[in-house]
Amino acid sequence: MKNKSLVSIQDYSKEEILRILDLAAEFEKNPHQRLLEGYVIASLFFEPSTRTRLSFESAVNRLGGRIIGFSEAGTSSVSKGESLKDTILTVANYSDLIVMRHPIEGSARYASEVSPVPIVNAGDGANQHPTQTLLDLYSIKSTQGKLEDLNIFLVGDLKYGRTVHSLMMAMTHFNPVFHFVAPEELKMPVEYKSYLDNLGIQYYEHTDFTDYIDNADIVYMTRVQRERFSDPMEYEKVKNVYILKNEMLKNTRENMRVLHPLPRVNEISEDVDNNPKAYYFTQALNGVYTRMAIITSILGIK
Ligand code: CP
Repeated sequence: MKNKSLVSIQDYSKEEILRILDLAAEFEKNPHQRLLEGYVIASLFFEPSTRTRLSFESAVNRLGGRIIGFSEAGTSSVSKGESLKDTILTVANYSDLIVMRHPIEGSARYASEVSPVPIVNAGDGANQHPTQTLLDLYSIKSTQGKLEDLNIFLVGDLKYGRTVHSLMMAMTHFNPVFHFVAPEELKMPVEYKSYLDNLGIQYYEHTDFTDYIDNADIVYMTRVQRERFSDPMEYEKVKNVYILKNEMLKNTRENMRVLHPLPRVNEISEDVDNNPKAYYFTQALNGVYTRMAIITSILGIK
């Protein structure tokens, strides 16, 4: 893992994933370690973010490192026409590792190919969000006590949702049964289903989930992402297609947990928030421990 960019969750083997989760557990027990003193991490966000950017910043600050960067491209020389390559080559002079979110699929891979310092993909378009996946796995393991043999429901925007694409790929190491719940317009793309077919992983597709949710170990809700639609009318048709309500959880498994990468819009009713099965805000906290583990592993400190 040392000096290796993290662009796709497939860049990590099962053993490497499990090592990050073990390290994250160590950081959860003891988050105040000055391991990053003298290190500078760059945070380049070409797209909006609350959790990813701030949990990376929190992780670096708590470990005694420094963070530089921008939270919107408009405040950087990208607004003057500077290329991604020139931006990366410049920022690499100032930092030991670059965390980058960018709207274009493949941008993180390209950045990793030109950068002399490791790149961590904080989301590239509808493609991948591997650090979110690692914190999702950490959350699943923390709540279920294991990652193997779970019934995982992925609900909402399965077409453009980079978090579900990354999570689905990572979970294939652990013999899951997937339930994909999406309207026709937002179904899981065929290439991801072929990926599962080739591995012999079971999955079912539904347009509604009320009849099946009682069998779930994890219900992973996602937002229908307005910013990925070129036609606003198409977004209007599907924006409120699934709304999880508290009453829908009454016969679900005791240990079932509701996850969501957040932000939510309407897809989880606020009456779910006080249900002990709602885990999404703790999931966001787990992002700090997981990102501590990712950064220190890549820098070769842990
Ligand atoms: N989960 C996630 O990526 O949230 P942000 O867009 O707020 O970073």
